[in-house]
Amino acid sequence: MKNILVIGAAGQIGSELVPYMRKIYGESHVIATYNHTPLPAELMEGGPSAKMDAIDGQAMQEIVSKYNIDAIFNLVAVLSAKGEANPTFSWKINMDTTFNCLEVMKDVKGAVFTPSSIGAFGPTTPQDQTPQDTVMRPTTIYGISKVAGELLADYYHLKFGVDARGLRYPGIISNVTLPGGGTTDYAVEIYYEAIKNKAYTCNLSAGTFLDMMYMPDALRSAVELMEADPAKLVHRNCFNVTAMSFDPEIIAAAIRKHMPDFRLEYKVDPIKQAIANSWPNSMDDSAAVMNGAGNLSLTWIP
Ligand code: SER
Repeated sequence: MKNILVIGAAGQIGSELVPYMRKIYGESHVIATYNHTPLPAELMEGGPSAKMDAIDGQAMQEIVSKYNIDAIFNLVAVLSAKGEANPTFSWKINMDTTFNCLEVMKDVKGAVFTPSSIGAFGPTTPQDQTPQDTVMRPTTIYGISKVAGELLADYYHLKFGVDARGLRYPGIISNVTLPGGGTTDYAVEIYYEAIKNKAYTCNLSAGTFLDMMYMPDALRSAVELMEADPAKLVHRNCFNVTAMSFDPEIIAAAIRKHMPDFRLEYKVDPIKQAIANSWPNSMDDSAAVMNGAGNLSLTWIP
C-alpha cells in the first residue's frame, strides 16, 4: 500500500487508524475523508484530507485519481441498532459505499479493506466458538449488508482482480471516538459512566456474552491482513477475529477492582437485546491466527 484512502475517518475506527497508518506509511500517503462529522484537528492537520460523500461514486473516483490511491479502507457504516431504526437509509449507506470502493479500485486493481462484523451471523449460526465458515443468516439490516458486502468483495476479487480483504470484527473498545448506534457500544460507555457517575445502566442483560477487542489489536489486524502475502490468503472476505468474550457483569467486576463502589444496573433495550441474542457468544478465529512457523492448516499466515 502506497497511497491509502480512509473513508469514514472521523468514526470510531477511522479516527485511530489514520494516525496509526500515517506513522507507518508517511503522513502525506494517508488521505482522510469525512462527511457530516468533521475530522478532529489532529487528523486535519496531520496529513491530506477531504470532505466527501461516500455514496457519490464520482467524487470518490476524483479523489482516488488525484492522490493516486492504491488502497481504500472502507469504514463508513450505519451500525446494528441505528440500522434497525432506519433500514432503508442503512442499506443505502452500507451498500453504496462498499460498491463504490470496489468499483473505483477495479481499473487500478487496487486494494479494498472492508470490515465485516459479528453482526454478519444470525440466530441459526452456532453461537459458541462460531466457525469461520458456517451458517450466515443475520436478522438485522446491518448484518445483511455485511454478508452482502463480503460476497460483493469476493466477487470483485474473482471477477475483476480487486485485492479485496476484510475482517469480521467483534465489538471494539477504544477511548478516542465513541462508537454510535451499535449493540456492543455499552462496553465502551460503561467506562465513561464509571468515571463520571460511578454507575452505569446497561441496556443488555447480565449473561449476554459478546466478542470484543481492544482498538490497538483491531488496527494492527487490519494492517497485517492488508500486508499479508496474497498467495497465503485462502479466505479473503472475511476472517473472524476476536480477543475476548464477556458479559456486563464481568466488566463491572473488573471496574470494581479500581472503583469498589461502582454500581451496575440494568434497563434492557428489547431491540438491542434481540440483536445481541442473535450474535455469537464467542468466535473461533483460528483461520486468522498468525503463525510464523507456517502451519499450512491456517488460512491467513502473514
Ligand atoms: N459493533 C457493531 C455493532 O454493535 C458490531 O459490529 O453494531
